[in-house]
Amino acid sequence: MTDQARSAESEIPGKPTSASRTALSHIMTAVDTNLYGTGHGGVIMKLVDDAAGAVAGRHSGGPAVTASMDEMVFLEPVRIGDLVHVYAQCNWTGRTSMEIGVRVMAERWNESTPAQQVGSAYLVFAAVDAEGRTRPVPPVLPESAMDERRIQEAQIRRTHRLARRRAIKELRESRAAEGIRD
Ligand SMILES: CC(C)(COP(=O)(O)OP(=O)(O)OC[C@H]1O[C@@H](n2cnc3c(N)ncnc32)[C@H](O)[C@@H]1OP(=O)(O)O)[C@@H](O)C(=O)NCCC(=O)NCCS
Repeated sequence: MTDQARSAESEIPGKPTSASRTALSHIMTAVDTNLYGTGHGGVIMKLVDDAAGAVAGRHSGGPAVTASMDEMVFLEPVRIGDLVHVYAQCNWTGRTSMEIGVRVMAERWNESTPAQQVGSAYLVFAAVDAEGRTRPVPPVLPESAMDERRIQEAQIRRTHRLARRRAIKELRESRAAEGIRD
């Protein structure tokens, strides 16, 4: 059974993507710069994690922790004064985890042009209870063809994440079995 089918069989009622979709905005200021005077990637990553965390909390109806962040892409530099908008939505749900997709847009402080995409990322959050134990999440219900595509792409990323983790674990175990210590 696929993860999505498993999620869909959950007894928890599903929630549509629109129920937890979130936007977060921030003006880049002098404290947000890197050594070169443009926006610091870590500041953008925190905004991405904050927005994704809000979506994960709203979708799962409680606390959720970041399990992984991958494919963080910086497409264009953000400049000081730019207004940064971070859009996040739940792309996919497993049993206790959710993939949140995030798009980062910048409105240039000195240009009246449309906002430009400057980055994107995919994060996996695990829903947890008060003791930090994982708990089941509602299946996400797609509302558009784009949502359907995002579920399918998230499932591909999930398959690759699990395969990569398993391959690295097996490699380490086989090296340890050969007595290699590193
Ligand atoms: C994330 C965490 C709860 C997972 O705990 P665990 O004991 O490994 O639990 P599980 O193996 O049951 O994994 C729970 C779910 O998360 C997924 N998951 C766990 N680690 C993952 C990873 N690195 N990448 C992608 N998914 C992951 C699992 O596939 C599972 O999903 P599913 O239930 O939908 O199939 C645990 O590792 C943790 O608490 N990490 C710290 C999180 C944190 O503090 N984040 C903030 C950083 S300061």
